[in-house]
Amino acid sequence: MKIAIDGPASAGKSTISKRVAQKLGFTYLDTGAMYRAVTYLCFKEQIALNDEAAIVAALAKAKISFGPMKQEGQQVFLNREDITKPIRSVKVTAAVSQVAALSKVRTALVEQQRALAAKQDIVMDGRDIGTTVLPDADVKIFMTASVATRAKRRFLENQQKGMPESLTTITKDIEARDYKDSHRQVSPLRQADDAVVVDTSNLNIEQSTRKILEIIRQKT
Ligand code: C5P
Repeated sequence: MKIAIDGPASAGKSTISKRVAQKLGFTYLDTGAMYRAVTYLCFKEQIALNDEAAIVAALAKAKISFGPMKQEGQQVFLNREDITKPIRSVKVTAAVSQVAALSKVRTALVEQQRALAAKQDIVMDGRDIGTTVLPDADVKIFMTASVATRAKRRFLENQQKGMPESLTTITKDIEARDYKDSHRQVSPLRQADDAVVVDTSNLNIEQSTRKILEIIRQKT
């Protein structure tokens, strides 16, 4: 079974998708972490963020893999390096949408995402899962929330992690990423025609998880 969960930045996709996957006993895949890993690779190897050929060549030589679920999210490796934390840095977050707009980068990552979905039951979250990666997914959710709610949640989360960004900076980052992700040429963020919209503005994690499990139950 394939469950696609898409939506804008900080709508709660990864937290809730992770819980839904746990409840169903499915694998969870955070596709945003893969785009973040490629962005991290660019900084590490000093490749310009618009040098598509060099990025794709470096990506072909690298291996992005996932470890067990941790408090801070799914553990992510670039070759043998644990990059779980650095891919969440302000620097990577500010640059990732630029790298994610490159069509050859997307082709390479989408291929890996489909291969993972082919061999197991999966909950996959991202921006283009229902529209491009798994157009035949059994259930498609488009998870959203107001910009103010999303910014506030990210602000509180960052505070807990000791990241001192202001609410204004976070709001601007979220708006900028939403704009770039939904206006790029290749696989822009958009709701699939057959997706069910879940607005989490007034729902907590528990309520959002329950709502999605209910939708999955009704659809399957
Ligand atoms: O989900 P997260 O916010 O970690 O994603 C980081 C970035 O990766 C997004 O802002 C977007 O630019 C890109 N992304 C994407 N397609 C996906 C998942 C993420 O373009 N399926």
